[in-house]
Amino acid sequence: MSSIDYAEKIPNNVNLQNDRTLQRALEHWQPRFLQWWHEMGPTDFESANVYLRTAVSVDAQGWAHYGALKMPDYRWGIFLADPVTDRKIGFGDQMGQPVWQQVPGEYRSTLRRLIVTQGDTEPASVEQQRMLGHTCPSIYDLRNLFQINVEEGRHLWAMVYLLHAYFGRDGREEAEELLARHSGDQNKPRILTTFNEPMLDWLSLFCFTYFTDRDGKYQLKSFAESAFDPLSRTCRFMLTEEAHHMFVGETGISRVVKRTLEVTKEIGTDDPARVRAHGAIDLPTLQKYLNFWCSSSLDLFGSEISSNSAANFASGMKGRPDESTYDDHVLRDKTMKLATPEGEQEVPMLNALNEVMRESYLKDCEIGLKRWNRMIERAGHEFRLTLPSSRFRRSIGPWAGVPVDTHGKMIDRAEYERRLEDWIPSERDRAFVASLMKKVIEPGKMAGWIAPPERGINNLAIEHEYVDLH
Ligand SMILES: [Fe+2]
Ligand SMILES: [Fe+2]
Repeated sequence: MSSIDYAEKIPNNVNLQNDRTLQRALEHWQPRFLQWWHEMGPTDFESANVYLRTAVSVDAQGWAHYGALKMPDYRWGIFLADPVTDRKIGFGDQMGQPVWQQVPGEYRSTLRRLIVTQGDTEPASVEQQRMLGHTCPSIYDLRNLFQINVEEGRHLWAMVYLLHAYFGRDGREEAEELLARHSGDQNKPRILTTFNEPMLDWLSLFCFTYFTDRDGKYQLKSFAESAFDPLSRTCRFMLTEEAHHMFVGETGISRVVKRTLEVTKEIGTDDPARVRAHGAIDLPTLQKYLNFWCSSSLDLFGSEISSNSAANFASGMKGRPDESTYDDHVLRDKTMKLATPEGEQEVPMLNALNEVMRESYLKDCEIGLKRWNRMIERAGHEFRLTLPSSRFRRSIGPWAGVPVDTHGKMIDRAEYERRLEDWIPSERDRAFVASLMKKVIEPGKMAGWIAPPERGINNLAIEHEYVDLH
């Protein structure tokens, strides 16, 4: 276990004190980060005491320390998972060769772009979520939101460390840009579309943490396989934090479903208008939110047919999530059949890796759906939540802009435009959900549209005052 020195200005387990130049560069960036947090982080909660976990080691057990603190005092640090002795490249054309401790010149700009794109999503999500504290359904949920926010801040630190440590002046410039782009900004938006979507309600937050943080999990898993060892080690540690973000999404949606089923039972009907009138979110509306955030997140994997994905894999920069579970790690002779609007195409497997990743991601997404549908079934309802087809509402790849329904069937464009409001939240749906968003901060109390969680944080009671707003 590498322990983290908390006496350091920047907590780290990368021996920062032995590299004065790097330390100075990061110390120079640190106040800019804090300024960004102050301006673009959660609004109006800087003086609240929040019960947060902080990474204190990379040990599988006990890496987190829990305690109440003000968010601007959070110890954002740089933690890499322990090195694997004699680690070898696990896929691609250089398979079996030693992993890289420095960036090979020929891969420099591609690796930098991959790291910047990942890094950009971290502060983007904090910006997207900055207003949500004002409408929290409970202080338990408020604490979870802030936990995610500070950890996305730390993920930004993780990527900025790599840029500073391995990419020289270009890397330092990119680190500045990561604080200069902003989610939804007209002139300087974040790089990926999903991270520019406004997030105005907690149902969106739960869908985002379910679908979009899960995309994050898959990206991190593919970087964890990377031949660039510092990137692999960084991402392996980030994954331990990411699990909580998806937990917030999965349990958040579970609690919404639970509450809706309770209300349905109380009023004796699942008529959406009646469910809404009783202050709960009807299941068809939840389905629309799932469709919206799932389809948006599917674009994050990139085009179905991609020469970049082929090059990144062949070179060893980016593997498949759980690479060791596959038989063939070189893929020079394999092909894959892909459905496109023009019919089926057979493409080299190397060029179809985005789709391979998207498919395993969708399988992972199914797990929550099964759980929620079991709850609905047990309550005696026919309704089932589903994932939209991966062709639905795509903006990237062969299906981009093609009018297809949520089952993936091509339909007439006019019909598509007309029915889109049946598939993703309409203005009216959003206004209804917004009308439910009222701040509840009495310890243990929940807003009427969501059931309490099954347990509190770190063995504390659900009634614990997770955020002290004094
Ligand atoms: Fe993250
Ligand atoms: Fe996350």
